[in-house]
Amino acid sequence: MLILGIETSCDECSAAVVEDGIKILSNNIATQIEEHTPWNGVVPEIASRLHTEWIDGVVQKALNDAHVDLSDIDGVAVTALPGLMGSLLVGLSYAKALAWSLDIPFVTVNHMEAHLYAPHLEYKIEYPYLGLIVSGGHTLICHVHDQYNMEVMGTTVDDACGEAFDKVAKFYKLGYPGGVAIDKLARKGDPKAFHFPKARLNKGDNPYNMSYSGLKTAVINQLNQFKKDGAEATHENIAASFQRIAIDMLIDRVKIALDERQLDQVVAGGGVSANSYLRKRLTSIKGCKAYFPSMELCTDNGAMIAGLGYHHIKNDHLSDLRSNAQARVMAFKHKYP
Ligand code: KG4
Ligand code: ZN
Repeated sequence: MLILGIETSCDECSAAVVEDGIKILSNNIATQIEEHTPWNGVVPEIASRLHTEWIDGVVQKALNDAHVDLSDIDGVAVTALPGLMGSLLVGLSYAKALAWSLDIPFVTVNHMEAHLYAPHLEYKIEYPYLGLIVSGGHTLICHVHDQYNMEVMGTTVDDACGEAFDKVAKFYKLGYPGGVAIDKLARKGDPKAFHFPKARLNKGDNPYNMSYSGLKTAVINQLNQFKKDGAEATHENIAASFQRIAIDMLIDRVKIALDERQLDQVVAGGGVSANSYLRKRLTSIKGCKAYFPSMELCTDNGAMIAGLGYHHIKNDHLSDLRSNAQARVMAFKHKYP
């Protein structure tokens, strides 16, 4: 079964053709990074306008790269949530029109679930496992019992992990996207030059929840307070010290969750799963196998949408052509009948 996957939730305009949920025939990602760089962040209005201009060409190229044409496509999958409303609507409207005109199945996909599906495109991963979804908008630690039963154990109570990378990078003008710039600079810095605080939640709170806004404030507004004697406040040192704490906050919780739930696999997805320090730390957890997507599949892409969409279509969880986009996800715990 050939599924066309469409992804326009943020600043990547992407389309992919995936066979049987696993074999990537094409994965065309047109990034808008250049257009948003002058603002050091995504400008929603620019993003949705560019998607409108690009979507048709992006889909056409995905079909050409896969050496197929529209009549070969068996179903259309598209991101409907979460994301920037204007951006989501472009991909969703396009996908609906295409599926309707071809009279083939249409399915909407949750972008966060798709991020966690990305490593499944490259590895045979058995359930259950601990899922770590870390992107620009979400930070989720989940017990993934099976494909349709993802139990969220913890999440951020304020900023997302990737958002903290982006905000710190924006403040110090380190480059855009922030996570990529910090990861690169951190390699040349001293991760112990600053002792930034790990946010502690109140006693009795969910121990798997986390907070990134305190860390961000410490790095941006209280830098000198946390500097080790004799250390220099170089961009490299700030990046390395911030990154260490931001990632260690995840690792601490991952370790406790693996232990508590008696799991021996962790699967990471989302833009921050490209982070070299996160990958190193997750790989070195004893007695646990860590899976990450390859770099191209960490950030937003159509292949993960087509891959997960295949399973929805195969299991007959089709979507209504009247279904709408949603900027936020209300509940993650899915159980299909
Ligand atoms: O998954 P994604 O492409 O979009 C969302 O769904 O949000 O994730 C984008 C986020 C951004 O915050 C970006 O700074 C972060 O992923 N990111 C990284 C790295 N590459 C991208 N964060 C840390 N280290 C990286 N190497
Ligand atoms: Zn994403």
